[in-house]
Amino acid sequence: MRTVLVTGVAGFVGSHVAHRLLHAGDAVVGVDNFNAYYDPALKEHRISSLEPLPGFTLVRMDFADAEGMSRVVREHGIRHVVHLGAQAGVRYSLEKPFEYEKSNLAGHLSVLEACRHAPDFEHLVYASSSSVYGHRPASGVAFRESDRVDEPVSLYAATKRACELISSTYGHLYGIPQSGLRFFTVYGPAGRPDMAYYSFTQKILRGEPIEIFGEGNMERDFTYIDDVVDGVVGVLDRPPERGVNNILNIGNDRPERLLDFVRHIEEAVGREARMILRPMQPGDVVATWADITKIRALIGYEPKTTLATGLPKFVEWYRSYAR
Ligand SMILES: NC(=O)c1ccc[n+]([C@@H]2O[C@H](COP(=O)([O-])OP(=O)(O)OC[C@H]3O[C@@H](n4cnc5c(N)ncnc54)[C@H](O)[C@@H]3O)[C@@H](O)[C@H]2O)c1
Repeated sequence: MRTVLVTGVAGFVGSHVAHRLLHAGDAVVGVDNFNAYYDPALKEHRISSLEPLPGFTLVRMDFADAEGMSRVVREHGIRHVVHLGAQAGVRYSLEKPFEYEKSNLAGHLSVLEACRHAPDFEHLVYASSSSVYGHRPASGVAFRESDRVDEPVSLYAATKRACELISSTYGHLYGIPQSGLRFFTVYGPAGRPDMAYYSFTQKILRGEPIEIFGEGNMERDFTYIDDVVDGVVGVLDRPPERGVNNILNIGNDRPERLLDFVRHIEEAVGREARMILRPMQPGDVVATWADITKIRALIGYEPKTTLATGLPKFVEWYRSYAR
């Protein structure tokens, strides 16, 4: 039996990944500090379905605590880490920059140090983000891992790119096999309240207007959570050679205009949205679009869920959670 350390286990992606690993027979040691970036009650709700499962251990701690992380890795004999904890959010990074310094920079370094000293360490899989690609035109071309990514337009994106670079250096210096996954707007049940699909659903149901930034002309490659989990777990089983930091997109290869996305939510909710069009916000990018050739070749990754099937599943979850 393998024991996988999952950081950000009370988060949206982390909790889904932990479920999948446990059901596949792995043991999971989950780390999270349940911070209040969004309602910690939702984090507790996600954990409540994990805690009864055999093989699950929760450690409530800050992963930027390097000594603490090394202790957890040592005590549980960890050789596989899925590092999904981070301070997420583009707009919040303009308000609270030092949260990103702590969780994303110090936090990533602390995870790397723990892996570096773990005997027979096999694989660190960590979350990066499509935001590292910076500004690209709408309806342009899909983003490839080999594209230049040296002009991030938010502090969040800059810290995610910094994590990739620090990982490359640690791979080079200490031989840690690593995979950095660039996620593209993940959505689904138990998702994040700070993201548009969540707040739009909430507001449409309450009859409140929704604000659409970029005048509705932005495009996003929305990826359903189960497809993301397929990618994370598939990549975990395929470590690169010692020292390699393999960067991979996990997206849907299907960019959608925001106004079409709102139409899908309206259909799933069964009500029309009242829309207020607003200009782009600082830090936001115009478009995202994942080229998934690389991960497809590595693990046979194939996203299965369209917005038309994924959004109703989110709305169904939201209705029961809100009750
Ligand atoms: N959801 C998306 O659309 C998306 C897109 C691109 C990248 N990502 C990245 O994927 C990862 C998972 O994102 P998510 O949507 O699940 O976010 P999330 O905010 O739901 O989960 C992150 C979790 O990490 C925890 N955390 C943060 N800082 C911590 C610290 N210092 N110590 C311990 N715990 C800490 C939080 O409490 C939270 O539970 C993140 O690295 C995020 O940057 C997500």
